[in-house]
Amino acid sequence: MTGGGKSQESGKLWGGRFVGAVDPIMEKFNASIAYDRQLWEVDVQGSKAYSRGLQKAGLLTKAEMDKILHGLDKVAEEWAQGTFKLNPNDEDIHTANERRLKELIGETAGKLHTGRSRNDQVVTDLRLWMRQNCSTLSALLRELIRTMVDRAEAERDILFPGYTHLQRAQPIRWSHWILSHAVALTRDSERLLEVQKRINVLPLGSPGNQDATLGVYVPGPAFQEPWSLRIPCPCSGAIAGNPLGVDRELLRTELKFGAITLNSMDATSERDFVAEFLFWASLCMTHLSRMAEDLILYGTKEFSFVQLSDAYSTGSSLMPQKKNPDSLELIRSKAGRVFGRCAGLLMTLKGLPSTYNKDLQEDKEAVFEVSDTMGAVLQVATGVISTLQIHRENMVQALSPDMLATDLAYYLVRKGMPFRQAHEASGKAVFMAETKGVALNQLSLQELQTISHLFSGDVSQVWDYGHSVEQYSALGGTARSSVDWQISQVRALLRAQQA
Ligand code: ARG
Repeated sequence: MTGGGKSQESGKLWGGRFVGAVDPIMEKFNASIAYDRQLWEVDVQGSKAYSRGLQKAGLLTKAEMDKILHGLDKVAEEWAQGTFKLNPNDEDIHTANERRLKELIGETAGKLHTGRSRNDQVVTDLRLWMRQNCSTLSALLRELIRTMVDRAEAERDILFPGYTHLQRAQPIRWSHWILSHAVALTRDSERLLEVQKRINVLPLGSPGNQDATLGVYVPGPAFQEPWSLRIPCPCSGAIAGNPLGVDRELLRTELKFGAITLNSMDATSERDFVAEFLFWASLCMTHLSRMAEDLILYGTKEFSFVQLSDAYSTGSSLMPQKKNPDSLELIRSKAGRVFGRCAGLLMTLKGLPSTYNKDLQEDKEAVFEVSDTMGAVLQVATGVISTLQIHRENMVQALSPDMLATDLAYYLVRKGMPFRQAHEASGKAVFMAETKGVALNQLSLQELQTISHLFSGDVSQVWDYGHSVEQYSALGGTARSSVDWQISQVRALLRAQQA
């Protein structure tokens, strides 16, 4: 077999049965090192745990393990210091690290991959990386929510119009609006914690017959299909499982995973945790883009409720008077990019035949890009909210008596009129005011009494915006007590989520 010799020269992991050279364009097409190099640290971490597993299984002597561990530390050091030199043949981070390990410690390095495949290795790496990254994103998201709640608490006496169909609807507290978005984000925060649980499952190694203490771990014979052993991959961990007695429970403890995967075929091919993460990000971006859109509108001259700080806006190269809300527009637009990644991954997964296929290499760019985007978006959103200026006078001035028409109906309801009739009576009052060309609160008591005899002198109380919002004191409403309750609930959620 001359091919074997050739492949050894080229340093390819899978070279044994290949005789021909790979087209350079294919080489480039196939490589993932340009982006999966980000996994260097978790790859070393996984390999260190695995070498301990090999030693325990008697596949490495203590001296060999120490040599490998030491070599891996050296590899990590080179990455950390920026001195790691990639070879043109380094297809991905796993190949690169193993190649370098061999250069550093010699042939013993070849024992590290015993019973392991890049298929369980890559998904272990990705889970480790995402576990770390998701806790960073979780903290950033909670920070944003906290900033919003602080603002809601400080500004809870400011009133402004609440909109439905983008039409002025009812007076609400500005804090009620802030909290409406903060509450949506608490669901994202909770959802991310859920996703983190499912990320935190170890695929490395395979189900064997070690006794396991974990409830989810079903001991049993490794699944072995004869055809699976013919796959040109030196990796029995690739699909069938690990036949060499590696203790996966030890690997789990070493890498601090919460559970281990149940089935080796599923473990190497499922990317549910990636899809869930991308969906989490898509929904969170949907929420953030809606908040951004509201703020963009509220920041226009037409509304003039808020003003973005200079730190988060840009000028126009043509029109000197303009201050553009680029930060908010970018938050709004990134939702599209993130959603695209989610749809793209689901499309990649759909219809894949069993176990690992190279299609799965596509998962990483989606994860990296979405993680970066979410990190940036959450920090910018926090900056925008904490520095936003509000024009409280404009907010109050935007309130108009017609927004109290519902309250006028409630006034009649309190006097005993069924709501349907009260709604109609209030509608008549609106029509009368419009016909007379006056504001709703300018109708005289006599005029109102032509509509219903239930109107009396105390109707004047209806025309007070402060009084209006205070009626909505049921939990979840815009009354001060209810807004305070919302604030304490969100704070309690944040505390629980941080624990
Ligand atoms: N770079 C690959 C990926 O990202 C690693 C796994 C390759 N496995 C294989 N059997 N070719 O998915």
